[in-house]
Amino acid sequence: MTPVRMKILLVGATGVVGRCVLNSLQAQHDVISASLEPAKSDHEVQLDLSDADALVKTLKSLGQLDAVISAAGRARFGALADARPASVEASVYGLGLLDKLLGQVNLALAAREVLRPGGSITLTSGTTSTEPVLGGAGLSMVNGALESWVRAAATEFPQGWRLNVVSPSLVEGTPAEACAAFPGFEKVSAERVGLAYQRCLFSGITGQVLRA
Ligand SMILES: NC(=O)c1ccc[n+]([C@@H]2O[C@H](COP(=O)([O-])OP(=O)(O)OC[C@H]3O[C@@H](n4cnc5c(N)ncnc54)[C@H](OP(=O)(O)O)[C@@H]3O)[C@@H](O)[C@H]2O)c1
Repeated sequence: MTPVRMKILLVGATGVVGRCVLNSLQAQHDVISASLEPAKSDHEVQLDLSDADALVKTLKSLGQLDAVISAAGRARFGALADARPASVEASVYGLGLLDKLLGQVNLALAAREVLRPGGSITLTSGTTSTEPVLGGAGLSMVNGALESWVRAAATEFPQGWRLNVVSPSLVEGTPAEACAAFPGFEKVSAERVGLAYQRCLFSGITGQVLRA
């Protein structure tokens, strides 16, 4: 069944993963692209996942949405030997916890205010939730926590709303510097990544972690 034209908010649309999602959806749907950078057109909005109040305000300003997708969220790599006990704000893990984890959780919570019944929310974790890499313990913690939250929170989302998370492996087009942290990982094509997000939107699944 071909899905009807949907109004979709895509956070992180200018990034490597975001562009895969945008390219797979924009021909058939109305996609509002969000990123940290100031908006340059009517199809773009500025949005910071780590600013909960601004997030709520921005979502409300967009009116009703059929789907919200996040392909964003920052986290820091760093050797465990350099990690010290610290508060969230001072920790080397703070950025990942506040931006990638809590930022995406807040996006999903705020989306309930603007999603049409039957709407879908799709977040992005990453392969380190199950495939550790050196210097990636903080990222593994964030990705694993996000996937666990999605599985559990989906059971409480009302009115047929759906909540899923895509966990991509190393995506083609990722800058060489970032690829170097993933030795031996095969790159996933942009098309395959786009298809995983399409499944979350159109196949009726909820509470799932889709590995691409
Ligand atoms: N690339 C991979 O191979 C891969 C694999 C698995 C998982 N992931 C995950 O997927 C996500 C995106 O990765 P990427 O490689 O596409 O990164 P990227 O190329 O650096 O793009 C990041 C995107 O997110 C936006 N963004 C960053 N922080 C934001 C915030 N606080 N609020 C709103 N938007 C924000 C950026 O906006 P601006 O352009 O305006 O800065 C940009 O659009 C990350 O969480 C990453 O861990 C990536």
